[in-house]
Amino acid sequence: MEMSKSELEAQKQKEIMERLKIRLAKTSEELGRPLTYCSLCFGCQMNAKDSEKLEGILETIGYVKTDSEDADFLIMNTCTVRENANLRVYGRLGQLKKYKKKNPHMLIAICGCMMQESLVVEKICQSYRHVDIIFGTHNVFKLAELIEQKLNTNKMVIDIWDGTSEIVEDLPSERKYDFKCGVNIMFGCNNFCTYCIVPYVRGRERSRKPEDIIAEIKELVADGVSEVMLLGQNVNSYGKNLDEPVTFAKLLEMVEEIEGLKRIRFMTSHPKDLSDELIEVMAKSQKICKHLHLPMQSGSSKVLKDMNRNYTKESYLELAYKIKKAIPDISLTTDIIVGFPTETEEDFQETLDVVRKVRFDSAFTFIYSRRTGTPAAKMECVATEEEIKDHFNRLLKEVQEISKETCSKDQGKIMEVLVEGPDEQDDRLLTGRLSNNILVHFPGTADLIGTYQNVKLIESKGFYYIGERCQ
Ligand code: 5AD
Ligand code: SF4
Repeated sequence: MEMSKSELEAQKQKEIMERLKIRLAKTSEELGRPLTYCSLCFGCQMNAKDSEKLEGILETIGYVKTDSEDADFLIMNTCTVRENANLRVYGRLGQLKKYKKKNPHMLIAICGCMMQESLVVEKICQSYRHVDIIFGTHNVFKLAELIEQKLNTNKMVIDIWDGTSEIVEDLPSERKYDFKCGVNIMFGCNNFCTYCIVPYVRGRERSRKPEDIIAEIKELVADGVSEVMLLGQNVNSYGKNLDEPVTFAKLLEMVEEIEGLKRIRFMTSHPKDLSDELIEVMAKSQKICKHLHLPMQSGSSKVLKDMNRNYTKESYLELAYKIKKAIPDISLTTDIIVGFPTETEEDFQETLDVVRKVRFDSAFTFIYSRRTGTPAAKMECVATEEEIKDHFNRLLKEVQEISKETCSKDQGKIMEVLVEGPDEQDDRLLTGRLSNNILVHFPGTADLIGTYQNVKLIESKGFYYIGERCQ
């Protein structure tokens, strides 16, 4: 059979990786030590997944991972959803200069959402000349080619694509965990919420074919993975643009059938596209976790309209109640923005009202950040900075009080966790995750990592439990 364009591309990249492997092995021999790489990643799970792919390429060509930024290859995967993330990146880049002076072999690459903004790339070209490779969100699969180009020309390599319709499958990926893994089901976003820069930096919606997704998950399961997180900016519109359209609910049913897979999670759902079919599939599923992240952004219908969210306060509430009724033990979490330009005190009260009515298990709260190029950036702001800070603090307090109560509802019960690793604070404890995404810390030994254990939830600490394993 003739190869498709994306299969040809994958093959080309694999050939480049082979060449680089030989070339870098020589450098390593000359230095008398292995070449190291350090991978820094900011932002969401999509970026985390892209970093796993970048690390897969680096491992394949012979680099060995280190946590130290003083490495032979440093890659920084950036996020630009809020302004403060950008400022941190510039600070970090500045600091890297000293390592590069010490180690002339060092290569610095920077990629991700921030690089899709032309002003950012201009600034790096002018003020951060020690950067070697700059690329964006659409050509992560090309890292080996860009490294080869850098080594051949010794010039700064810049490769930013405006968009792509291609999905290059079947390249290496270096997984962070042995037992759980994110799986891209779609890329990009078509929603254009007026505050959000994502559609501009991640491009239009593209879904992977269900058979490619299923094949990848089967391979992961054969390799020891028992929990997958299906990733997309708006998973509820999955499959609409495929040659043979498939709904997200149907995809979930197909994933459910994979033998050996125990848990299915997904991120993120847009309320406007969440179907009854999906609720039904979730309610009867044995594997889909009892957790739904349903970003509400605001409780005011007026602000939601200005945000171009395509739902109202009432329809969001109705949806939340419907989900809770169909799946009583579900944990509902959300994202909320305060300080959107048109948000008044009354609008903010509407947000508090929804928070009190839905009683989210947890909520990520953000202060609106103006992103150049988005429609909201041109809107005039009705509240002062002080008022916005006050709203933020009041919202946070409300959200935390409610989540402390909702999260402790299972105290005393015995529930199953997937053991994820040693507790970060106390090495006598392990950390496991309940189906509803809440963490449990309990005494145990490292051999249990990656296994499912029944744990008695002894004491709720607000956002997590202290538990005890049931033998
Ligand atoms: N300002 C503040 N928060 C934002 N988010 C997206 N864009 C912005 C912005 N410009 C938040 C939304 C989204 C989450 C990932 O980030 O709440 O759901
Ligand atoms: Fe941004 Fe809205 Fe798309 Fe989410 S759905 S990525 S908030 S534009």
